[in-house]
Amino acid sequence: MTLLKLLNLQHILMLSVFTATANGYYFHTWKQCIYSSPDLSDMEFIEGFYFNKYPVIKFNSTVGMFEGFSDFGIQTAELWNNNTVVLQQFKAAVDTYCKPNAKPYEAAIYSKKERPTVKLSSVMPGDSTHPALVKCSAYDFYPQPIKVYWLKDGVQVTSDVTSTEELPNGDWYYQIHTMLEYTPKSAEKISCVVEHASFTRPMIYDWTPAAPEFEWDIQLLFIIESAALLLGIIIAASGYIYFKIKTSEL
Ligand SMILES: *[C@@H]1O[C@H](CO)[C@@H](O)[C@H](O)[C@H]1NC(C)=O
Ligand SMILES: *[C@@H]1O[C@H](CO)[C@@H](O)[C@H](O)[C@H]1NC(C)=O
Repeated sequence: MTLLKLLNLQHILMLSVFTATANGYYFHTWKQCIYSSPDLSDMEFIEGFYFNKYPVIKFNSTVGMFEGFSDFGIQTAELWNNNTVVLQQFKAAVDTYCKPNAKPYEAAIYSKKERPTVKLSSVMPGDSTHPALVKCSAYDFYPQPIKVYWLKDGVQVTSDVTSTEELPNGDWYYQIHTMLEYTPKSAEKISCVVEHASFTRPMIYDWTPAAPEFEWDIQLLFIIESAALLLGIIIAASGYIYFKIKTSEL
């Protein structure tokens, strides 16, 4: 049996991935179902035939024909393209092979949406002289694309905003953090807006200024820092005085 005939026979038998080795030769096919639309309407079926890893023939359902690469591949592609039964079978693979396989994947993975848990927190409480820093965090959402932004009295804030990327948790879920620096004014409304595929509309989370115990924590930190600084000065000063006394004694 010539290789041409063998290849002809094989492509009719092969409707799943097929590999064969004989006498050190290696032949394989690779089927791909490519799509981006969730309703699978843009499904494209590609099948490549490779001999010793070199492409010989390729079928692309959008083109609707076989394309050959080596002399042998070009010859065979012409033969297959002339065979309407074979051609129809390959064109139909979009519906007979790709879509039935893609549907369970769509249902099990791609269409999954998980709502983020959104938390607003104070990073730095502001006062009349220092700007305040507030953080909006969205945790455990899927899929990755998300939009998080700030509103000041209903108007989107574009400056003084810093944001992380969508950070993968490592468990399919993502988190993102956005910070807004602002000078607190009375009766001003600060809100964080989250837009995600899991919501039917943008979700608005209003910021209520930091709880008193948090401010107390910051104050305590200042007291400790000041005490440490004072202690440092005292130690340095005594060291210097001691050194002066010692050197004057010599
Ligand atoms: C299939 O053919 C179409 C039309 O020429 C082209 O746009 C597409 O990129 C091809 N697909 C692949 C995977 O080569
Ligand atoms: C394929 O069909 C074309 C046109 O009908 C013809 O010229 C050609 O010889 C055919 N090729 C093969 C390999 O049968």
